[in-house]
Amino acid sequence: MTADKKIKVAICGGGIAGLCLLYGLLKHAHLEVTLYEASSEIAGDEGAGVGLAPNAIRALRLIDLELVTAAENADSVFLTDPFATAVMGREPGFGSKVLDLRSKTGERGFLFQRSKFIQQLFKLVPQESCKTSHKLASISEQEDGSLDLSFTNGTTTTVDAVIGGDGVHSIVRKHVLQDHLDQVDPFFSKQYFYVTMAPMENAKEKMGDWFPELPIQYAWCGEQGFLMHDPANSGQTLQVLAAVQTDDVWGPDQWTKEKDLEDMRKDLEPFQELGRVCGDLIAEQGESLQARSVWEHSRAATYNRGHAAVLGDAAHAMQPWSAVSLPPTIPYLPSPRQAAGAGQAIEDAMILSTLFSLTKTPQDISTALETYTSVRLSRTHYAQNMSAENGDIIMNAGKFKGLNAAQLKEAFEFRWEELWYFDLEGHREEAVGRFKEKAR
Ligand SMILES: Cc1cc2nc3c(=O)[nH]c(=O)nc-3n(C[C@H](O)[C@H](O)[C@H](O)COP(=O)(O)OP(=O)(O)OC[C@H]3O[C@@H](n4cnc5c(N)ncnc54)[C@H](O)[C@@H]3O)c2cc1C
Ligand SMILES: *[C@@H]1O[C@H](CO)[C@@H](O)[C@H](O)[C@H]1NC(C)=O
Ligand SMILES: *[C@@H]1O[C@H](CO)[C@@H](O)[C@H](O)[C@H]1NC(C)=O
Repeated sequence: MTADKKIKVAICGGGIAGLCLLYGLLKHAHLEVTLYEASSEIAGDEGAGVGLAPNAIRALRLIDLELVTAAENADSVFLTDPFATAVMGREPGFGSKVLDLRSKTGERGFLFQRSKFIQQLFKLVPQESCKTSHKLASISEQEDGSLDLSFTNGTTTTVDAVIGGDGVHSIVRKHVLQDHLDQVDPFFSKQYFYVTMAPMENAKEKMGDWFPELPIQYAWCGEQGFLMHDPANSGQTLQVLAAVQTDDVWGPDQWTKEKDLEDMRKDLEPFQELGRVCGDLIAEQGESLQARSVWEHSRAATYNRGHAAVLGDAAHAMQPWSAVSLPPTIPYLPSPRQAAGAGQAIEDAMILSTLFSLTKTPQDISTALETYTSVRLSRTHYAQNMSAENGDIIMNAGKFKGLNAAQLKEAFEFRWEELWYFDLEGHREEAVGRFKEKAR
């Protein structure tokens, strides 16, 4: 690579992380960027819903205002104020309010279907910069730092840098963490859940007095689980989600498990009458139900190795009580979990785009990626930790077991501040400063 030659960057994975990064990198004329997606199209899985908190929207804006418009155009639902309320879902005090969650700054978040946002993002990039049906199989490092990529269909390419946005089972993660093999695979969070999307009128009829008073998200903090319901599709639908703690062992590829209605009813029993009416709505899915497992990554020691790095779920998959990594095709909208997975992916993309704008030589690539790890590691570990703790709080588990309503309020109240109102401009400046320091 000489100074007048473009730096060749491959992005693997066409999810929110990969596409936001692609958009950011395409702005820099000294880069030649190609995105490789395993699936035959860039569409995202149809059902999954994602909530973007204020930090995520600010990160989008820092990449480009056009990305905020893409999110708005994804048939979004805007969060109201309060946007969520947490309620006791166990005795003593079943039904008493724990707290209302409000936006401190007036900034609003929004909810959309992941596939709709992905389609809007895809519209913003030249189609020829995305190669579909390219599933990365392996990476091999050359002496000069460049990387040979092989795809499962036999295609190969050589690039100056590879960035993995290839999700929870990331191949790039395996390469980046080859000296930390115990951190590569995701682990089972000992939680599974049922979810359904009920037509609003039907929900109203079935739930009777339990039908929500306000069109917001309700989280019922239960015994060994939690129950959530919230409006979706411009209020046409009510999503009902019931999560359960389990000591059962689920295998690494076991994203879902068949459950019969009996099991589901039993799981919802602690929620008393409310559990019964929500169970009725979930039961409408049919004889057998899919319970979905929750997986997360342990905290990675690094997000880069040489000229390779990971972002998004490939770097830091976390529990859905902040964000989730689950099988596709689940209609799913966020509860008063912190909804951080996509938000952290967008923040990663923003920092990487900034650092790549400064990258002019091959040596700069490692410097940029080391800087990326150094600024992102503790923030993303924090998001992973908070999500896991949130899971314990809302499900009455771990060190948060046995809290009453007042204690729950105390445990919950300030958990959003650091994630949502974080100084992202300062974060970006820090990245630039550290890069310049190292590159001197
Ligand atoms: C059901 C569900 C609900 C969620 N709810 C929220 C929420 O409310 N708020 C929030 O912030 N986050 C939420 N998340 C998390 C959020 O969706 C993820 O954190 C975010 O989408 C991660 O995006 P990603 O691009 O890193 O990974 P992914 O979306 O997993 O994308 C990875 C892409 O890489 C491709 N790929 C995989 N392997 C390869 C390979 N070897 N070669 C090439 N391509 C490959 C895949 O096909 C896929 O297109 C949710 C996630 C799910 C699944
Ligand atoms: C494999 O690579 C070729 C060449 O780039 C591409 O045209 C094709 O779509 C790829 N995928 C499959 C599944 O053949
Ligand atoms: C996250 O949790 C791990 C393990 O409990 C801990 O070692 C680490 O310091 C925490 N990191 C942050 C940033 O909260």
